[in-house]
Amino acid sequence: MKLQKITSMLNFEFKNPTKIIFGKGEIQRLSKEIPANAKILMLYGGGSIKNNGIYQQVTQALAEFDVTEFGGIPANPEYSVLMEALKIIKSENITYLLAVGGGSVIDGTKFLATAAHYKGNEPWDILTHRIRAMEGETLPFATVLTLPATGSEMNSGYVISRKETQEKLSCGGPGLFPQFSIMDPEVIKSIPKRQIANGIADAYSHVLEQYMTYKTSASLQERWMESILISLQELAPKMMESEFDYDAAANFMWCCTMALNGLISKGVPTDWAVHSMGHELTALYGIDHARTLAIIAPSHYRFNLDNKIDKLCQYAERVWNISEEEAHKKAELGIQKMETFFQSIGIPTRLSNYTENYEGCAEKIQHTFEERNWILGERKNIDSNAVLQIVKMSY
Ligand code: NZQ
Ligand code: ZN
Repeated sequence: MKLQKITSMLNFEFKNPTKIIFGKGEIQRLSKEIPANAKILMLYGGGSIKNNGIYQQVTQALAEFDVTEFGGIPANPEYSVLMEALKIIKSENITYLLAVGGGSVIDGTKFLATAAHYKGNEPWDILTHRIRAMEGETLPFATVLTLPATGSEMNSGYVISRKETQEKLSCGGPGLFPQFSIMDPEVIKSIPKRQIANGIADAYSHVLEQYMTYKTSASLQERWMESILISLQELAPKMMESEFDYDAAANFMWCCTMALNGLISKGVPTDWAVHSMGHELTALYGIDHARTLAIIAPSHYRFNLDNKIDKLCQYAERVWNISEEEAHKKAELGIQKMETFFQSIGIPTRLSNYTENYEGCAEKIQHTFEERNWILGERKNIDSNAVLQIVKMSY
């Protein structure tokens, strides 16, 4: 196999204004970071924060502030629930949002930060029309991260689900970086292993989406990405053990943030087709976000073996020490290692492991993508027919 031509580093802009406050006991810093006159809406999920001490730490830190609470944001934040929160933001003249949770609560909060200023009648249009939120056009917000996985605590993207229409759509914009995020690795103590595994797989997939493209001269970015992948591989067994290890937790937490805070993707092409297809599996079957990625990724990389051959071989060699000479074999061995890695943390990599009703799924997703006119991938060559085949390969 002839190696492909190397492209120069792409032009880029980089601005990430989120302040990170990282470490043990830092939740109390909330009182110093939020403006004293803020009218705060504190948003959280299904109640885990009430059982693990995080709620107490946050409310204690905010004792002197004007705080209204909104709990019950579900995993895969649901539009209809968020619309209830939007009513409160308007009726209570809220000026500041505080998300206390994982990606779902943070993403829901980002949507609210932009929906609060939206002039149209139907805020769902923000997502269907992909209306970007610009700086100065959103409510200010901050986060207390309780679950490392998505990187949402330091990026400006969000993903919202709507059961009524079986949609899961993403959006974002420069106005949606959190003002600050508090990251205390101790919060990881109470996270169920299933969610830890999800966090590992999600962060790992984020790096793959930005890495497994075509070769560029951006060698620093490539090494950063490889180091996050290797770190996650090394940390995974420690994170899945029952005993809490602060140092492993701290490294894991920072890996997840670095995997999707925008830094590693600067100057390189990115893919994100795995996420686009994965979101459809969550919309159709309710499968956890990270697990949908582990289902789609191996098929996606096998389907695109020729397009991605250089990076697949580099991944096999640098991340897994595979020394095979023949490029296709080497790439395939790398993909097998990736699959075994997901399985080693208890994440099955076939759709049929999650549902018996998978027949017809690929056709449905093909149809949805056709309707949306979506063409995916770093080479803009993944059309709805390719999507059909990739999803079928993942059954
Ligand atoms: O709701 P509670 O009771 O808080 O329980 C949550 C939830 O059930 C629980 N949990 C969180 N912190 C905990 C805890 N349980 C015990 N102890 C703690 N400290 O974990 C469950 C899952 O939480 P969730 O926030 O849904 O998980 P995650 O952080 O994986 O977020 C997934 C969502 O983020 C989106 C996904 O699509 C999905 O909707 N993503 C957001 C991205 C972004 N904004 O950049 C990128 C990602 O690719 C992803 O698409
Ligand atoms: Zn993800």
